[in-house]
Amino acid sequence: MSRIRAAITGIQGWVPPYILTNKELEAMVDTSDEWIMSRTGIRERHILKGEGLGTSDMAAEAVKGLLEKTGTRPEEIGLVICATVTPDMIFPATANIVCDKAGIKNAFSFDMNAACSGLLYALVTGSKYIETETCKKVIVIGADKMSSITDYKSRETCVLFGDAAGAIMLEPTTEEVGIMDSIMQSDGSGRFYLHMKAGGSLKPPSYETIDAREHFVYQEGQPVFKFAVTKMADVAAEIMAKNNLKSEDVAYLVPHQANLRIIDATARRMGVGKDQVMINIERYGNTTGGTIPLCLWEWENKLKKGDNIILAAFGGGFTWGSIWLKWAY
Ligand code: ACO
Repeated sequence: MSRIRAAITGIQGWVPPYILTNKELEAMVDTSDEWIMSRTGIRERHILKGEGLGTSDMAAEAVKGLLEKTGTRPEEIGLVICATVTPDMIFPATANIVCDKAGIKNAFSFDMNAACSGLLYALVTGSKYIETETCKKVIVIGADKMSSITDYKSRETCVLFGDAAGAIMLEPTTEEVGIMDSIMQSDGSGRFYLHMKAGGSLKPPSYETIDAREHFVYQEGQPVFKFAVTKMADVAAEIMAKNNLKSEDVAYLVPHQANLRIIDATARRMGVGKDQVMINIERYGNTTGGTIPLCLWEWENKLKKGDNIILAAFGGGFTWGSIWLKWAY
C-alpha cells in the first residue's frame, strides 16, 4: 500500500488595509528609511487598526477565504491549529475563536506557540494527523497581530513587525507530493534574548509591569541575529543533504521573513539564486506566524505540481526548523 502524505491543497492570506511606512515611523522614533531598508529590507508593514479586533479576526478572514477557494464546507474540517504569539486572550485558544468565527463546528482545535517558527511547527504537527488518517482535512493557520506587542517608542523593535494571517489546507495524498521531510529544533536557553517580560505566570500584569513597558517584545538584536543566521542556514542545508537535494533541484526556498540579511545568508548556504527565493519582507515586515503562508499565497500561481520547496524559519524560544515539501497542485 502506498504511503499517505499530507499535501497542501490550498492557501489563503489576509493582511489588514492600513500600511505603516518607514516615513511614518521616522516621525515616531529616531530612525530613517535608509537605516531600516539597509539593516532589515523592510519598507512598510500592514497594521490592524480598530477597537475590538484581534488575531482571530485576521485568521478568520484567511480561513473563510480558504474554505471558499477550496470548495470546502466548514463541517468537513477535522482539526485547526493556529500558530501565534499574539492570541486574542491567554485562554481560550485563538484556534477555538477562529473556528467559531468561520463557522467550523466540533473540530479539534488548539494554538501552537513557537514564535517565528510556529507555522512550521504547526504544519508538521498537522501533517501527522493526516498521515495517521486521524483527520481528512486540517487547517493550519499562522497569524499574528504583532502591533499589539510592539513598543512604538522603541526604535530597535518597532520597525520590524507587521500584522497578517495565512491559512493552509492539508489533505491526504498517496502521490509523491506533499510534506516529505522535516527537521524541527529548539533551545530554551535562547529565551533570555527574545521574550516578553510580563503578562505570563512568571510575572503577572501589574501597574509596575505596565510602567516598565514589559508587555512588549524584548529583543537583543545582535545575539538573535547571530543565532538566526547560523541556525536557519544550517537547518536548510541539513534537510537538503539528508534528502540528496542539490540546489538545482529546489524550485523555491521559502524563508521566514525577519531580516533580508538572514534570508540572503540562508540562500547562499543552500547555493540557490535570488530567483529561487520567495521574498516579500519589503511590503509586510516580520509578521511572525504569517510570513511563510503570505509568501506561498503570493507565489501560488507560479508554483507547479512536483516543485521541491524548502521552508525554513528561526524564532523566539529559540526555535528553528526546515520542511521539504513537493507542491501538490
Ligand atoms: N533606526 C536607527 N538606528 C537604530 C535602529 C533604528 N530603527 N535600531 C537600532 N539602531 C541603532 C542602535 O541603537 C545601534 O546604535 P549604536 O551603534 O549607536 O549603539 C545601531 O543602530 C546598531 O544596532 P544593532 O542592534 O547592532 O543593529 P543590527 O545591525 O544588529 O540590526 C536588527 C538590528 C535588525 C534587529 C538585527 O539585529 C536583527 O534582524 N536581528 C534578528 C531578528 C530576528 O531574526 N528575530 C527572530 C525572529 S522574531 C520572533 O521570533 C518574534
